[in-house]
Amino acid sequence: RTVAVVLAGGSGQRIGLSTPKQLLKIAGKPILEHTLAIFEEAPDVDEIVLMMNPGFVKDAEAIVRKAGFTKVSRVLPGGTSRNATTQLALDVLADHDPATKVLFHDAVRPLLSQRIIADCVTALDEYAAVDVAIPSSDTIIEVDDDIITEVPRRSRLRRGQTPQGFRLGTIREAYAKAWEDPEFEATDDCTVVLRYLPGTPIFVVAGDEHNMKVTQPVDIFIADKLFQLASSATPEFTEEDYHKRLAGSTLVVFGGS
Ligand code: CTP
Repeated sequence: RTVAVVLAGGSGQRIGLSTPKQLLKIAGKPILEHTLAIFEEAPDVDEIVLMMNPGFVKDAEAIVRKAGFTKVSRVLPGGTSRNATTQLALDVLADHDPATKVLFHDAVRPLLSQRIIADCVTALDEYAAVDVAIPSSDTIIEVDDDIITEVPRRSRLRRGQTPQGFRLGTIREAYAKAWEDPEFEATDDCTVVLRYLPGTPIFVVAGDEHNMKVTQPVDIFIADKLFQLASSATPEFTEEDYHKRLAGSTLVVFGGS
């Protein structure tokens, strides 16, 4: 059995609007609705748990009802940090078997592909923890007060995306240990396993450049453009066609102004 936990407990401070970014519309629908639809359509996913910003649970329920998503079992308020939201989801899944596969996904990554979901679910047959990542185009530097302290070799670096998948028993145990540490702080769930269950191999599934996280205002524009490309596709439309069209549209953007 596989459960998808959609993390929508945040408020989107870096976008800076009064509405949380997961409720902003892209290609005519709220970002959250696009994301839920992907898991609703995923053949491997049996259940969806939605963790929402506490002030907007009713809005999320309305989206689920209107779209008729049948796999969403609960819509619940999230916590004060991403990790607190994950813990609240784990509490809700207390009666599930420890062997259950759980995928935690950022609600604000509405361009997740079915291929990535399938690869995560398959990898969880062999591994108890799975991350999704892509190579970094940019050189990543480490700084201390605006002074460079380290430039790690780019070929060894990856940019982490979501979903992050786990056997339920593994992520439960990792979080139980993490909360015993007064210094505990993280921005994702794989870090919790890496730090608090050392020795657990975390397999990395290949992500996708399109699986972007809507974080900054410019990301809304980029995600909207990517949806326009995808929605004009026909059933025969291949990934190669998609990339050709993407390249074509870039030329139009530069040539047209
Ligand atoms: N998230 C969550 N609960 C929180 C904080 C974040 O479920 N208390 C979710 C967000 O809703 C988002 C995902 O975690 O889908 C990734 O977090 P991020 O992009 O940092 O979202 P926000 O916290 O909303 O953004 P910001 O940091 O700009 O406020």
